[in-house]
Amino acid sequence: MKKALVCGAGGFIGGHLVNRLKSEGYWVRGVDVKSNEYGNDNADEFVIGDLRDPIVANEVVTSDLDEIYQLAADMGGAGFVFTGTNDAAIMHNSVLCNLNVLDAAKNKGVKKIFYSSSACIYPEYNQMDANNPTCSEASAYPAAPDSEYGWEKLFSERLFLTYQKNHGIDVRVARFHNIFGPQGTWEGGREKAPAAVCRKVAMAENGESIEIWGDGKQTRSFLIVDECVEGIRRLMESDFSGPVNIGSEEMISLNDFAKMVIKISGKDLTINNIPGPLGVRGRNSDNQLIQEKLGWAPSTPLAEGVKKTYQWITNQVKSKVEEPVEA
Ligand code: NAD
Ligand code: GDD
Repeated sequence: MKKALVCGAGGFIGGHLVNRLKSEGYWVRGVDVKSNEYGNDNADEFVIGDLRDPIVANEVVTSDLDEIYQLAADMGGAGFVFTGTNDAAIMHNSVLCNLNVLDAAKNKGVKKIFYSSSACIYPEYNQMDANNPTCSEASAYPAAPDSEYGWEKLFSERLFLTYQKNHGIDVRVARFHNIFGPQGTWEGGREKAPAAVCRKVAMAENGESIEIWGDGKQTRSFLIVDECVEGIRRLMESDFSGPVNIGSEEMISLNDFAKMVIKISGKDLTINNIPGPLGVRGRNSDNQLIQEKLGWAPSTPLAEGVKKTYQWITNQVKSKVEEPVEA
């Protein structure tokens, strides 16, 4: 039986990845500073621990592990990463997790490690045209990410690849493009646009409007989490190190995305575009390399993932409203 460690198992993608590994027959240890608030926690062993502490990293990284998946990071959507107010924490916290996990893996002789990078590493100058962004892997340099979160991810990609070069660890690096789905953060300030829009629509009454940051013409592509996990596993099983995009090529403007959610809800709502943190003007995954190297690329239509996610967030909103008030 293969043994894996999932760092960030209390989080969104980590929780789904644990389930996938369990379904493949792995023994899984999860580690996170928090448990999974939506109960998506099926690891054989779950350690609550702070990976900024090298002692914790050395405890959870054991020599009997076959694989490590490093997803622990201080992360969030535009309201968290593009305001500037969390930049020091993002850089400090995420880089410490990466350094500690990777060094422990080297010291314990673990052979294979996955690192979750981001589309945020791509240069801003290639993402100024909402309808024609460039995010091919080779376009990452000359580097000019628009956020410190992106710079940290780019540094950490390089960090992981140095351990492959100098210490012989088998490294896999993926650049995720806006992953969404059930059990993802949907409130509190770290939620990304798909969950935020679903929440706003779920909470609105007929005849009301929902607020969308910016003019709504900015574009993104959103990938359902099951496809992300499929991509992680395929990359891990392949002999390609990456970095490689794991994302959807179904680009959509934010206003059109909001219209899609409104249509799925069956409600009669309008859109109110307001100022907010924006990020790049346009972004879309480029799946040529993943198709070439893995013979596979995500294919689930956006609307399919949005239907599932809207349903889950509607249920979250309902259960929150129905929560008994403490005396
Ligand atoms: P998430 O916030 O749900 O999960 C990250 C987890 O890391 C959280 O549960 C958090 O508690 C944990 N963590 C943070 N600091 C820690 C620490 N010091 N010690 C232990 N655990 C710690 O986010 P996610 O969406 O599941 O993202 C997973 C990874 O994928 C992250 O590295 C993120 O940057 C990357 N990524 C995600 C997306 C996306 O759209 N979701 C896009 C690009 C990259
Ligand atoms: N979060 C959020 N909430 N975004 C909104 C909202 C809202 O209510 N309304 C409109 N938007 C707009 C944002 O202004 C931004 O232009 C766009 O929707 C996408 O926002 P996010 O989904 O929050 O972030 P992102 O796509 O810019 O970046 C995310 O994906 C990256 C990978 O592709 C972040 O989660 C990054 O951390 C991640 O690496």
